[in-house]
Amino acid sequence: MDATLTNKKAVITGASSGIGASIAQKFAEAKAEVVLIARRKERLMRLKEVIEEKGGKAHVFPADLCEGDQIQPLFEDIFRKLGHVDILVNNAGVGFYGPVHEMTPEEFDRTFHLNVRAVFLVTQQVVPFMKKQKEGVIINIGSISGKRGMSNLSVYCASKFAVTGFTESLLEELRADNIKVSLICPGLVNTEFFRNREQPLRGSVEDYIQGEDLADAALLCANGSQTATLTEIIVRPRRPIA
Ligand SMILES: NC(=O)c1ccc[n+]([C@@H]2O[C@H](COP(=O)([O-])OP(=O)(O)OC[C@H]3O[C@@H](n4cnc5c(N)ncnc54)[C@H](OP(=O)(O)O)[C@@H]3O)[C@@H](O)[C@H]2O)c1
Repeated sequence: MDATLTNKKAVITGASSGIGASIAQKFAEAKAEVVLIARRKERLMRLKEVIEEKGGKAHVFPADLCEGDQIQPLFEDIFRKLGHVDILVNNAGVGFYGPVHEMTPEEFDRTFHLNVRAVFLVTQQVVPFMKKQKEGVIINIGSISGKRGMSNLSVYCASKFAVTGFTESLLEELRADNIKVSLICPGLVNTEFFRNREQPLRGSVEDYIQGEDLADAALLCANGSQTATLTEIIVRPRRPIA
């Protein structure tokens, strides 16, 4: 077991499934103490058990990040429990699939509240502490959909373009404080992300990127050099998805 994040404290949003759960496990295996945030408390408790069975340390903080006014009290609790935070992974996200004229204002609001507003509000909570400690890592999970527009994904793409712009700006703003900021842009990943989608998925999910692959990318961003930042990692399925 590689202990590259020894004594680091990492907050991971959207840790109850998919990419977030994989990152949490990978970071805990690398000896970080991890904070797991999502709405489904039972899932988080199960993940905490799995991590602790392997000798890791995890804390569960259930929260709905669309409820913006819960974010500050949530982080007050986290800082009270942990003292400080070294790594933040903004991973929680949602997407709705369909033509623009069928997308509802509620779907738009849910997408932007979680994918954009929560990323902004959560980041605001950790930045002053990271600036004070003159060290930190912020990893935002964007998407290939934050790089180019796609049919039937207009609102999701718009939200992920916002994440791209926000992350690039943060990088410039926080470099002088020795805070590393990375954007990870995955293509199709085999997670529960598509569970509510009515249209059939393309190709076979075995050919999709796996959560573990993204966890490896996140570990590279969190660990890495004292003198270099991995500003952006694009992760595509190895084979084309037909
Ligand atoms: N799967 C892909 O192909 C793909 C590709 C590119 C980028 N991404 C991005 O990767 C990130 C993770 O997605 P995933 O693929 O791992 O999907 P996922 O398995 O559905 O994970 C989404 C996570 O977000 C959490 N979440 C959803 N609504 C929330 C809320 N209101 N408050 C707090 N947490 C909330 C979910 O937990 P609860 O339901 O328990 O709250 C879950 O832990 C997202 O930002 C997504 O946009 C995914």
